[in-house]
Amino acid sequence: MTQPRPATSDLTSASIPGTAIVTGASSGIGRVYAERLAARGHDLILVARRRDRLEELAGDLRARFSVNAEVLVADLSTQEGVATVERRLATDASVSLLVNNAGFSALKLLTETPDETIGGMIALNITALTVLSKAALTAFRQRDAGTLVNIGSGAGFSPYPGIPVYGATKAYVFLFTRALQQEVAGTAVRVQLVLPGAVISEGWEVAGGDALEALPDSIVMTTEDCVDAALAGLDQGEPITAPSLHDASLLEEFLGLSGRMLESVFDARPAGRYGVGG
Ligand SMILES: NC(=O)c1ccc[n+]([C@@H]2O[C@H](COP(=O)([O-])OP(=O)(O)OC[C@H]3O[C@@H](n4cnc5c(N)ncnc54)[C@H](OP(=O)(O)O)[C@@H]3O)[C@@H](O)[C@H]2O)c1
Repeated sequence: MTQPRPATSDLTSASIPGTAIVTGASSGIGRVYAERLAARGHDLILVARRRDRLEELAGDLRARFSVNAEVLVADLSTQEGVATVERRLATDASVSLLVNNAGFSALKLLTETPDETIGGMIALNITALTVLSKAALTAFRQRDAGTLVNIGSGAGFSPYPGIPVYGATKAYVFLFTRALQQEVAGTAVRVQLVLPGAVISEGWEVAGGDALEALPDSIVMTTEDCVDAALAGLDQGEPITAPSLHDASLLEEFLGLSGRMLESVFDARPAGRYGVGG
């Protein structure tokens, strides 16, 4: 049922906020995104596998914020599930925002990680995010409007013990999303990369082990603070938002150094320390 939108002065686009698709909306960070975006007047398409959770959230959002909230049940580790969301991005011109949030981790050494878990993690964290980014940017570029938010992780900066595949999938999200930002430069389409640190969510149970309990309270953020900071970063026009990174100059240094590495690594001559070549 179509409901009137609430008046709001805090929208991600200048006029009508449009529809936001949030993947992984049934819990954790995605659920808070859905709530916060509904509070900003967005209609919602909530994507995940657990229908009951999504239905309950959709009902709550409709009641509290007078927005439309639709449930789209999809297993994004499958081609079919991804295609369902892809189709929606291609055909629904009201979609103005995609939050590529669904993802999971496994706290295991590579040699102890089942192949099925590895495949599922790569399919969800990398393949689904990539295909849905393409579908979103294809639609947004045609309209020269729209915002893509990709959820990476602080774990993508450097290898962290016990998450060899997860960390690498998030390193992919980092590089991939940075590349997309280059692709949309000069257009009105926006791409934000969000890099949470440690955030309290069911994701830690999914990952296995008691790693969250082992972390000091001082480094673990709430989902609400994480999403509020991410949206504040979006409002401020940040291309990269790291909600728990206090010293932003570190990120600048990191980006500067990685750019210098890229410039320096291509040379026809082997480096002198190898003592080979002409
Ligand atoms: N929590 C942290 O410390 C942290 C830190 C950095 C980055 N992140 C990232 O933040 C994102 C959200 O994580 P979270 O901590 O909020 O975890 P979470 O509470 O476990 O939420 C994960 C969401 O993804 C959905 N999902 C999982 N597998 C799916 C599949 N195959 N198809 C469709 N949806 C699927 C889950 O719903 P269903 O089970 O209902 O499908 C759930 O809604 C992830 O990308 C994660 O890597 C988290």
